[in-house]
Amino acid sequence: MREFLESQEIDSKLIEEIYKFREYYKLDQELENRIANPKYNYYGKDVLNKSIAAILAGKHILLTGPKASGKNVLAENLSKMFSRPLWNISMNINTDSASLIGGDTFRNNEVVFSKGPIFRAAESGGFAIFDEINMAKNESLSVVYSALDHRREIDVPGYDKIHLHEATRFIGTMNYGYIGTKELNEALVSRFMVIDMPTISRENLEQILINQYSLTQEYRNLFIQLFMDLQKKSLNAEISSKAVDLRGMFSSIDLMNMGLNLKDALELGIINKTFDTFEKEIVSDVIDTLFEDKVEYNQIFK
Ligand SMILES: Nc1ncnc2c1ncn2[C@@H]1O[C@H](COP(=O)(O)OP(=O)(O)OP(=O)(O)O)[C@@H](O)[C@H]1O
Ligand SMILES: [Mg+2]
Repeated sequence: MREFLESQEIDSKLIEEIYKFREYYKLDQELENRIANPKYNYYGKDVLNKSIAAILAGKHILLTGPKASGKNVLAENLSKMFSRPLWNISMNINTDSASLIGGDTFRNNEVVFSKGPIFRAAESGGFAIFDEINMAKNESLSVVYSALDHRREIDVPGYDKIHLHEATRFIGTMNYGYIGTKELNEALVSRFMVIDMPTISRENLEQILINQYSLTQEYRNLFIQLFMDLQKKSLNAEISSKAVDLRGMFSSIDLMNMGLNLKDALELGIINKTFDTFEKEIVSDVIDTLFEDKVEYNQIFK
């Protein structure tokens, strides 16, 4: 972890503080398996610096940004970096107090309180992700307001008042402007430090591709160019953001690795992400400009 943070040019002071934090907030052994083990490192010096500083200062963070901008990857990286157990809560319109904090359930003919993820993160100094926080109804989140502000406590109806462990942090993630998402209540946003997640830079994308795939340099550059070109077209409002899908591009490369030909793989992962025929054509044109029709496996992979 230290090596990775140094390679990302994270302030050495912040790195020292992370290690002090880890040393100070020891973790019960039975919770160690809840520490995230992210498949990917999050690349992006600015966002890393900001989020680390906010966590160290005791703040909760709200990660906002387009799809596949690494919001969940960052949250998992923070769990690992700070060595804290992680609870992930996928928010939706049915999210309520019981699914967050917990509620009464029957066990052996007795009513017992069953702890929800927020409760468990609160008592153990865990990190809890409110994933897609703007999918939930604003009212259902009001139960955590007191946890998120200076009070750092939750009054659980029919149970005790619980105080947050000093190491507990909340991480919200949200996509802006998707169908089904809501405007977040100002009072809720006020309780977070808001980090705007940029789409990935050329250098960081290159780094991820080097780490994850053994691509030939030529094709690595072509995939980077493809993503940058699509991003540019979307920024210029020539196409929507639907086909600007990093996750989709990575999956396409996975299919190529299975032997599917390049154009078919990109159709599944990129072109077909938009359902508009006109837009599909523009995206196909971008692909056809960069890639020849018949590409052999050995041209793509080392
Ligand atoms: N800066 C980055 N560093 C590392 N990986 C990144 C970065 N940006 C995007 N990715 C990659 O994008 C993919 C999606 O990441 P993730 O699931 O965290 O996105 P997200 O922002 O949560 O997306 P969504 O809003 O769709 O849930 C992963 O494969 C991840 O590795
Ligand atoms: Mg996500």
